Parts: sequence; structure tokens; C-alpha cells
Amino acid sequence: MLPSEKVRKFKTGIFTELSGRKQEAMKRGVDVIDLSVGSPDLPPPDFVMDTLVKYAQDINSYGYTLTGTPEFQEAVRYFYQARYGVELDEEKEVLQLMGSQDGLAHLAMAMINPGDYVLVPDPGYPIYEASVKLAGGIIHPMPLTAENEFLPQLNEISEEIVKKAKMMIISYPGNPVTALADESFFAEVIAFAKKNDILVVHDFAYSELIFDDHPQISFMSIPGAREVGIEFNSLSKTFNMAGCRIGYVVGNSDALNILGTLKSHIDYGVFYPIQKAAAKALTSNFSLLSDQAREYERRRDALIAGLAKAGWHVPKTSATMFIWARIPAGWKSRDFAYALIEKAGVTVVPGDAFGKQGEGYVRMALVQPPERLKEAAERIGLFLEKNRL
Ligand SMILES: Cc1ncc(COP(=O)(O)O)c(C=O)c1O
Repeated sequence: MLPSEKVRKFKTGIFTELSGRKQEAMKRGVDVIDLSVGSPDLPPPDFVMDTLVKYAQDINSYGYTLTGTPEFQEAVRYFYQARYGVELDEEKEVLQLMGSQDGLAHLAMAMINPGDYVLVPDPGYPIYEASVKLAGGIIHPMPLTAENEFLPQLNEISEEIVKKAKMMIISYPGNPVTALADESFFAEVIAFAKKNDILVVHDFAYSELIFDDHPQISFMSIPGAREVGIEFNSLSKTFNMAGCRIGYVVGNSDALNILGTLKSHIDYGVFYPIQKAAAKALTSNFSLLSDQAREYERRRDALIAGLAKAGWHVPKTSATMFIWARIPAGWKSRDFAYALIEKAGVTVVPGDAFGKQGEGYVRMALVQPPERLKEAAERIGLFLEKNRL
């Protein structure tokens, strides 16, 4: 059986590799602390689960939904107005997705022709690159480095590439790079996109995991954004509904229409009880969101303080459920991550899995309670000491 030329471009994902190594270590009796996959360990709110159960018991809930229900569309409009001060037309400027991954995976297929360039952050969330490869587009990586505060330097992209670029993907705060962008950066992106006729795609999956009173800036809140751009969002991290597979994209109605047309040939909508539960979550009182952000802040502080005690000084992350940490000199990311599983019983993701610029970094997910993160830091400390780093 031979895979298609497109699929031949893909290797087995890093999470499968890490999971195999973790299983090996567990067979040897190691109690592994897994900080690899960014799947929330916290539960959705009770009222969300209650809604899901209630409608799952209704025999009328089991047909195809095809698209977002009017109630869901309206709930997104309400959420964007209440949380980010953005006014949306719930019929034209909101498109429901089976998780934002669904939309991110299919967008390039809907917008990109073979030979079109797409500007993609490096490091970046893997589906950005994979989706462009599947669509036959050409990836132009935009390096995100600590020196440039993890912001792409738009004026360094050559004229020739800019001319051929059809789309640009950014994410603030993102994964694995957790940096935030300010309004002036977004305004610069909008001007660049207008001038060069480029669709801007902002991934805002971590919109509610922003700490230390930093503002939550939706790209759509910047003047001119909806003329050039769209913004993906999700209930996966905000309401711990990752397994429900529900998300949405908002913004430019023409782009949403094109993606919606493609999707109408691919899926038949999200399970009705999940749509009901999601609508409930999006229109709830939002105190649980700040409680949850505080919990991630506690986790971040526990891990960063523990690592500092061990002599590994990682700057404080301002957002998301990840720590993006430069590893001690002399190591390759992959060797370091594999050694941590073997010798310290801690699983982290090597930075090069997210792009060339990720070499020299690892990503740690804050998906364990503070005590367990403290223990992970202690184990890493012992490992560093033994290796005299
Ligand atoms: C940056 C980013 N975007 C999108 C997603 C996809 O989320 P979902 O498909 O669950 O909405 C993730 C998941 O980890 C992510 O980290």
C-alpha cells in the first residue's frame, strides 16, 4: 500500500514518538510526569456537562446538524462582544468548526493554489505547516526569536515572496511560543496585509489563558481587521471541552463563506448536545474563566520557581498552558527531551518539532497540579546536577 505524494511528506508525529518512550520507561517502573500534550486536565463547568447530558438523552438530538445552530452563532456573538468588545454579525461573521483544528486544517485547501506562498510562524503549531503542504502551497517561515520578542519582522520578508504570498498565519498568545502581541503590531499586520492583498489568519485558541493582568487583545478588535483577516477560537482550552471538538472562526465574511463551502462537502456538523453545551458555556457568567487563569498562573509559578531553584532560569510566561524554555547549552532539543524521559521521568516536547527555530528549546505543558509540577522541576534539577549542567 503506497501513501499519496502529499502524505509521504509527513513523518510519524512527535507525540506518538514521546508516548512510545514514555511507555518504555513506565514498563521499567518509572513514574512518568507527562508535560507533553496540551490537553487540559481540568473539567468543564458542571452546568456545561449537565446540558450535554440533558440533550444527549433527548431522542431528537441525533440527526445531522449540518452547521452551527442559531443559538450557537448568537452565543459566539455575545461572547466576542462581552469578552473582547468586538461586534460580529452572527450569521455572516461566525462559522462553527469541529474544533479550531478542523478549520485550520482545511483553510489552506479552501484558499491556496499550488505555488502560492503562505507566511507561517517558525516555531509554530504544527497544523499551520501541514495544512499548507496538503494544499500544495509553499511555506515561507517567519522566524520568531527571543531577540525580536517572538514577533515576525515583516520588513525582512523579500518583495518577491510578499508578491506571491496569499495568506499569513499568526498566533498571540500562541503555541509553543507563548508571547503576546500589542495593538500596534496587529495594526502593522493589517497595513501589510492590505497593501499586499494577503489574508491574515489569527489563531486565538488561548484567548482566555492570559495572566498578570495583560490585556486580552482580539485581532478582530483592531480597526480594519475584518477587511483582511479571520480569527480562530475554541472551547477546548477556555472551557476544557477539548474532546467535544467544537470551535469557531470569526471575521471576514468572504473568507468564512469559502471555508464554509468546502466544509459543507466534508462534515455534517457538530453533535447537537455539544452545540447546546457550548452555547451555555459561551453565555455563562465568566468568573470561572478568571479562576482558571489563576490556576494556570499558580502552575506556571510552581514550575518556573522549581526550575530556578535547580539553576535553570526560564522567563515568566505571560499566557497559555505552556512554558517555552531555552535548554542548557550543549544539548540538542531531541536528545535533551529523550534524556528527561529516561533519566528524570518527565516528558516534554523537543522544540524542533515546531520548526527549525525551535531547536534549543523544549515545551512543557502545565497540565498537572502545582505539587506535581514542583516534583517535575526537582527531578529535572537532579538530572541537571548529575550531568553537571
Ligand atoms: C495554538 C493552537 N491552535 C489550535 C489548536 C486546536 O484546538 P482545537 O481543535 O481543540 O480547537 C490548538 C490545540 O492544542 C492549539 O494549541
